[in-house]
Amino acid sequence: MPDAVTDALDLVTAWAGRPIISTTIKGGLSHHIARVETDDGERWLLRVLDPLIAETGLGIPLDQEISNTIRAASTGVGAQVLHVMPNAVLLEYLDGVTLDAPAVREPATIEQIAAACRRLHSGPAFVNDFSIFRKLAQLLALCRTHDLTLPEGYLDVLPAARDIEAALDAHPLPAVPCHNDLLAENLIATPAGIRIVDYQLSGNNDPCFELGDIAAESDFDPDHVVRLTRAYFGSDDLVPRVRLNLIMSNLTWALWFVVHQGLVRNEALPDFDYSAEAADKFAQAARDIADPSFGHLIDGRKPPT
Ligand SMILES: Nc1ncnc2c1ncn2[C@@H]1O[C@H](COP(=O)(O)OP(=O)(O)O)[C@@H](O)[C@H]1O
Ligand SMILES: [Mg+2]
Repeated sequence: MPDAVTDALDLVTAWAGRPIISTTIKGGLSHHIARVETDDGERWLLRVLDPLIAETGLGIPLDQEISNTIRAASTGVGAQVLHVMPNAVLLEYLDGVTLDAPAVREPATIEQIAAACRRLHSGPAFVNDFSIFRKLAQLLALCRTHDLTLPEGYLDVLPAARDIEAALDAHPLPAVPCHNDLLAENLIATPAGIRIVDYQLSGNNDPCFELGDIAAESDFDPDHVVRLTRAYFGSDDLVPRVRLNLIMSNLTWALWFVVHQGLVRNEALPDFDYSAEAADKFAQAARDIADPSFGHLIDGRKPPT
C-alpha cells in the first residue's frame, strides 16, 4: 500500500476516533479509492489523490479537484465531503449501483442523468475553466515531448478538431460547472436519483461537452444522443453541437490513455490494455469524422436520418 494511503488512513482513524477497516475499490485508473468502515456499521469513501495524475495533465490540480468536489456536493449531486486531508478527501458513501454503459443507454436512465447534470450545472461555478480543445493540445504536447506512440493515422485526422472548434466558437454557449468525464462508472444510481463522483477533470465548460462525453463513453447511437439532448435542453436543436463534442471526447480521451500508458501506468491494474482503449476511441472519432454527416454537424444542421 502506498505511503500516502497509509497516512490518509491514519488521519481517518484519528478523525473517526475508532478503528477502521479499509477495502480498496478497484475501478478507476487514477487515484486510490477505498471503502472505509467501522465496527458499528458506519462507512465512508476515501479518495487519496495521486499528484502524478495532475502533474501529467491527466487530471486538474489537486486543490482545484478538492474545491470542485465540495462545490458539487453543495448541489446534492456530488457525495458530501466529510473531511479534507492533504491530497485526500473522505466522502459520503453512496449506497447505490454504479452504472455501466448499457444501463446509461436506458431511456429512463438518460432522463435521470440529464436531470443530475442540470442540477450540477446550475450550482456554484467551479474554480477553474476547462476546454477539451486545450486539453487535447496539452496531451498532444506531452506525447511529443515524451515520444509516445499515437494511434495510427491520428495526425491525419487531427485537423478536424480545428474545424470543430471554429464551428462551436461561432455560437458559444455560457460555461457551466461541468464534470467533463462522465463515463458510466462515475454515475451511481440511488433511490433518490443519479449521483456523480470523481471530479478529476472538472471545470467550467460548454454543457454540450458534458452531453457529448456521456454519449461517447457509453457508445450512444444518434437516437440516444437526440434523447439525451432533448432530456437536458427540452429541444433537439443542439444535437449537432452535442455530436461534435462526442467526437472531441473520443479524439481527446484517446490521448489520455496514451499518456497514462506512457507516463503513469498502474500497478493495480496490470492487465488493462491502454493502447487498445486509445485505438478504440480514436477509431470511433475517425469513423465519425469521415462520415458524410460530419459536414452537416459542422454547419450546425441535423443530419438526415
Ligand atoms: N462516494 C462514493 N460512494 C460509493 N461508491 C463510490 C463513491 N465514490 C466512488 N465510488 C465507487 O468507486 C469507483 C471509483 O471511484 P472514482 O472516484 O470514480 O475513482 P477513479 O478516479 O479511480 O475513477 C466508482 O466507479 C464507484 O463505483
Ligand atoms: Mg472514476
